[in-house]
Amino acid sequence: MAKETQGNLSRRRFIQASGMAMASMPFLSLASQRPENGQAKNSGDSSFEFSFLTDIHLKPEMNAPLGFQMAIDKVNALNPDFVITGGDLVYDVMRGDYARSEMLFDLYQKMSRGFQMPVYNCIGNHDLFAIYEESPEGADHPDYKYGMWERYFGKTYYSFDHKGWHFIVLNSLDVTEEKGYKGIFQADQLDWLAEDLKNTDPSTPIIVTTHIPMLSTHWQLKGQNGAVGVENSAEVIRMLENHNLKLILQGHIHWKEYGMVNDRFDFITGGSIAGNGWKGRRHNTKEGFVQVKIQGESFSWEYIDHGWEAERLKLEL
Ligand SMILES: [Fe+2]
Repeated sequence: MAKETQGNLSRRRFIQASGMAMASMPFLSLASQRPENGQAKNSGDSSFEFSFLTDIHLKPEMNAPLGFQMAIDKVNALNPDFVITGGDLVYDVMRGDYARSEMLFDLYQKMSRGFQMPVYNCIGNHDLFAIYEESPEGADHPDYKYGMWERYFGKTYYSFDHKGWHFIVLNSLDVTEEKGYKGIFQADQLDWLAEDLKNTDPSTPIIVTTHIPMLSTHWQLKGQNGAVGVENSAEVIRMLENHNLKLILQGHIHWKEYGMVNDRFDFITGGSIAGNGWKGRRHNTKEGFVQVKIQGESFSWEYIDHGWEAERLKLEL
């Protein structure tokens, strides 16, 4: 894989520090999760990078494994400390075909072992097993909804610490009475979050990851009246009010955006690996991922094109 150059970085931002000193005390966290691929490296240097890959939609068709492998190779070349995914790891298990669903998660798990650093996964709507009406499996199936994901990847919400920063990965999904999905942070998760924050020093910089966006320009621009957002995201923002929230990372809409809120925190919606079902761009956003570079209390980010569009066009010739 060619070395990264400025020319193929489609966007770059640098966010100034808020002026708060890096917390020097050790971290306290109630819940933590062992990542896939072992423990994150710790060189003692406070600066680090991580990659945020969202909406991978892995499946055997459409050369999707080739596209995902290109993203894995690109990440390995950039050599961040770890990877966070933004959900929709596979496409998809909502319709409840057990054999295919197992095959998809198995394929994702095997391929993601190719990342040469730990991977922290987040759950997306397409990862919810058998929730649709058409599913031959019901709510009594042990893998129903979060079950299959949990069997492969562990808890659907958790936190971990890395070099003075606290990372919170949330489950932004539940099932409606009409057997659809909706964006919500459930009560048990909010209780856990309150406890997690109680054990996190208020000066500790925090990054939150959610599949369904908590904030976005998408619904104003597309006229969807919030239908693609988390309905109680304000509650989580309120809970974080007295903490050093730095950044919210989001997926779901295959949409690339950056926003800054009142000099307080930023949000990034991270495009997608799959684009429009591996057929091309969605919202004219090129397939790619977000590379975040942390320095002290500041971060910068870049949207990385891992070359899938050029490869896909070649394959279609
Ligand atoms: Fe998606």
